[in-house]
Amino acid sequence: MRKAVLVTGASSGVGLALCKRLLEEDHELHLCLACRNRSKAEAVREALLASHPLAEVSIVQVDVSDLQSVFRASGELKQRFQRLDYVYLNAGIMPNPQLNIKALFSGLFSRKVIHMFSTAEGLLTQEDQITADGLQEVFETNVFGHFILIQELAPLLCHSDSPSQLIWTSSRNARKSNFCLEDIQHSRGQEPYSSSKYAVDLLSVAVNRNFNSRGLYSSVVCPGTMVTNMTCGILPPCVWTLLTPIIWLLRFFANAFTLTPYNGTEALREGVRAGEEQREEGQRIRSGFRADSREPDVGLELTHREIAA
Ligand SMILES: NC(=O)c1ccc[n+]([C@@H]2O[C@H](COP(=O)([O-])OP(=O)(O)OC[C@H]3O[C@@H](n4cnc5c(N)ncnc54)[C@H](OP(=O)(O)O)[C@@H]3O)[C@@H](O)[C@H]2O)c1
Repeated sequence: MRKAVLVTGASSGVGLALCKRLLEEDHELHLCLACRNRSKAEAVREALLASHPLAEVSIVQVDVSDLQSVFRASGELKQRFQRLDYVYLNAGIMPNPQLNIKALFSGLFSRKVIHMFSTAEGLLTQEDQITADGLQEVFETNVFGHFILIQELAPLLCHSDSPSQLIWTSSRNARKSNFCLEDIQHSRGQEPYSSSKYAVDLLSVAVNRNFNSRGLYSSVVCPGTMVTNMTCGILPPCVWTLLTPIIWLLRFFANAFTLTPYNGTEALREGVRAGEEQREEGQRIRSGFRADSREPDVGLELTHREIAA
């Protein structure tokens, strides 16, 4: 039977590169592109089928910042699929990013310079807005829409005899200090992107705690810093081109600079391997290899798979 894979945000960047890579690895996959823009998705579908004619590539139109659209898309998916083997929760936004020049210059002359460049900590602020659902756009797109999607798709994901995996595209920019339970949507702060990615990390831990026993495993990955539509919102493409030699040098000191979406997909594939390890570990615990049944103290850093591409 064909494996069934759903990818959100498959129309560009790392999501698109992932779709190409998945089909290179399995020519007979059923790949479902979950995109908000149908014409972009159609163009991607045609290009993918042209190079992988044996594959089945379908489209589901979904805007993860619109709850009605998420409910409609999940209804459609439940009619079309019996199960989903892998779901890549990848769509994301960082609207109107502003570079904090003061923080950039003070960081340049500090010992934290590599850390600053590889995590963008304190460097970026964003201007968020309210969606038609009355939620913060960054939170709804990056976290909540995806959360509702997986809740709705539970019948396709929870089969204890044949497990499924969720792979979230998180970010090194995720910061606990930007996340607050009293303001879960980060409506009062200026770093909603960082906050939303931290919420994604927490959500993945919670999914594992609550759903592993039902055959669903979750992992979060950071694809590294790549030149995509998202990063071209921070600096124009020509500046990224000029910076490329410097970034190549920085790669000797920090593996976070993956540069291309194709390199970034390595982390997403690593997420699958991490999920498989978790499942095998779980099976060993259940079959008595591990004497202690104490729940491990899950540090988020342990769930964060980053790559050394
Ligand atoms: N680029 C980086 O350096 C970097 C670093 C760490 C993490 N990430 C994460 O990687 C993921 C992919 O980003 P990218 O860099 O590949 O950027 P990108 O090229 O802008 O891709 C974002 C994708 O998300 C889709 N999307 C955005 N809002 C959506 C919505 N409301 N409903 C459905 N789809 C929506 C976009 O669709 P459209 O084509 O219709 O706009 C696009 O396919 C994001 O989660 C991002 O946070 C990126």
